[in-house]
Amino acid sequence: MKKTIKIAISGALGKMGTSLIKESKNFKNIKLNLLILKKINKKNQKKLKKLIKIKKNNILIEDNIKKNKNFDILIDFTNPKNTMKNLKFCYNNNKKIIIGTTGLTEKHYIDMKKKSKKISILYSSNFSVGINLLLKLLEITTKNIGLESDIEISESHHRYKIDSPSGTALTLGKKIAKTLKKDFNNISNFEKNTKKYKRKKNEIGFNVIRAGEIIGNHSILFINKEEKIEIKHQAFSRKTFSKGAIKAAIWINNKKNGLFTMENVLKK
Ligand SMILES: NC(=O)c1ccc[n+]([C@@H]2O[C@H](COP(=O)([O-])OP(=O)(O)OC[C@H]3O[C@@H](n4cnc5c(N)ncnc54)[C@H](OP(=O)(O)O)[C@@H]3O)[C@@H](O)[C@H]2O)c1
Repeated sequence: MKKTIKIAISGALGKMGTSLIKESKNFKNIKLNLLILKKINKKNQKKLKKLIKIKKNNILIEDNIKKNKNFDILIDFTNPKNTMKNLKFCYNNNKKIIIGTTGLTEKHYIDMKKKSKKISILYSSNFSVGINLLLKLLEITTKNIGLESDIEISESHHRYKIDSPSGTALTLGKKIAKTLKKDFNNISNFEKNTKKYKRKKNEIGFNVIRAGEIIGNHSILFINKEEKIEIKHQAFSRKTFSKGAIKAAIWINNKKNGLFTMENVLKK
């Protein structure tokens, strides 16, 4: 019989935290053990009780990860500062971690890489199956017509999103740059809304919309003199991310150490 995997969720009452709690009910081999909130007060406890039966399911609630080590894998969709604090805790206590937080910097990636020598870390800017399949399509398209096309990445998200462009848009751009064997920092353009803008050769242009309650739309355009290809993805529900993150947690459970992405999970 398979061993039950004990899961902790940081930011349990956030948009993604809420979706993860709901989705966890669909997986038999995982058990929600620990929910971490920024603040434990009556209002938040009431919100949690509406989401899941806390007592019946024997779930612990803490306001700081340092107060409880009773889990195998932490799933974190919060903010870079909190995520890096949690990563340090996981490293010191030999716990695995799934990171969905975006807006991480190069320094954070270097830290993840170092810590992954001891623990298993899976980071993805987008846990949906669709975006990870789209990355494969993007590679084929870039190899074939990337150098002769003007490339534009556009993304739209809800009005509350803090980081811009989205982590996913950056992942898409980095995939294109790597396939073209070019330095992403040299060919990416985030500042096109200026009076003197003129497209450079092999530039990847980024376009951002923040409005309403949009969950996450991404589109990549390849346009040359003869034709246009548009590769698009639209997330209809956060379930696509939470389902992917839980699948990633199950996948990482038997990995002793290493830095993985969702592409590793879907390789089979
Ligand atoms: N990788 C993916 O597939 C994917 C998909 C969707 C979103 N994301 C990313 O995931 C992150 C969260 O997104 P979201 O839409 O869920 O945001 P959100 O609704 O703002 O949720 C973030 C949650 O983290 C909590 N939090 C902040 N500091 C904390 C701390 N020190 N301890 C415990 N909890 C803390 C917040 O609590 P308060 O509200 O009390 O501050 C909030 O409940 C963002 O970076 C977003 O871009 C990634």
